[in-house]
Amino acid sequence: MVYFIGAGPGDPDLITVKGKKMVEQADVIIYAGSLVNKQIIDCRRADAVVYNSASMTLEEVIEVIEKAEKEKKMVARVHTGDPSIYGAIREQIDILEEKGIAYKVIPGVSSFVGAAAAINKEFTLPGVTQTVILTRMEGRTPVPEKESLESLAKHRASMCIFLSVHMIEDVVKRLLTHYDLKTPIAVIQKATWEDQKIVMGTLEDIAEKVKASEINKTAQILVGDFLGNEYELSKLYDKNFSHEYRAAK
Ligand SMILES: C[S@@+](CC[C@H](N)C(=O)[O-])C[C@H]1O[C@@H](n2cnc3c(N)ncnc32)[C@H](O)[C@@H]1O
Repeated sequence: MVYFIGAGPGDPDLITVKGKKMVEQADVIIYAGSLVNKQIIDCRRADAVVYNSASMTLEEVIEVIEKAEKEKKMVARVHTGDPSIYGAIREQIDILEEKGIAYKVIPGVSSFVGAAAAINKEFTLPGVTQTVILTRMEGRTPVPEKESLESLAKHRASMCIFLSVHMIEDVVKRLLTHYDLKTPIAVIQKATWEDQKIVMGTLEDIAEKVKASEINKTAQILVGDFLGNEYELSKLYDKNFSHEYRAAK
């Protein structure tokens, strides 16, 4: 059996209880060492065999899984954040399906929510936006043209931009096609890690601040008016608003 496990954004206490149990029990652990906090696998069995997938190809990962499966061993495939977001799990899952190897996905805390928590913000403020867009800018790997930052910026929703901080100037230029210069933006590097860095600004000054802070990887770019101070109160807790669990007062 193979478990795809979300390790969370960095803080080793942010893996789920279920995910941790699987890491504790695994015979074989394959973890994404470029981003997963190594402390996550400190709870492993003394005889667990550990592989760092950062230096492995898809074929090599599958080879390790197949060998473990033949020996009736349990595999923990540990991905950063939540495996469903830029986790490259689909290509692994499809091969496991073909080979008839059983697997299960255990979700994790994605870095975009880890980053929001680091700055104590809510993405979906009433009267501001009710939509969160998760995306990245094209770099060495492409993004479909219909999902260009310019086209997504049109919505002026809350946006979380992964894998792009090294191109912050270009990101800002594209966002400015629809967001105002004064739109708040936050860059959070290594959210929830001990050496987390937070830079807050506007589209006008963020590129400069990010450069000055020497942030060039493992960062979330969060942008939108949810970072501002104007919003409406929620209906959920409004005393004049009744719902299934509470009558209006
Ligand atoms: C390959 S993606 C993996 C995303 C991961 N599956 C998730 O749910 O967060 C790697 C990118 O996620 C973001 N990232 C991962 N961990 C982060 C953290 N602790 N703080 C900020 N951004 C992070 C960065 O944008 C990084 O370039």
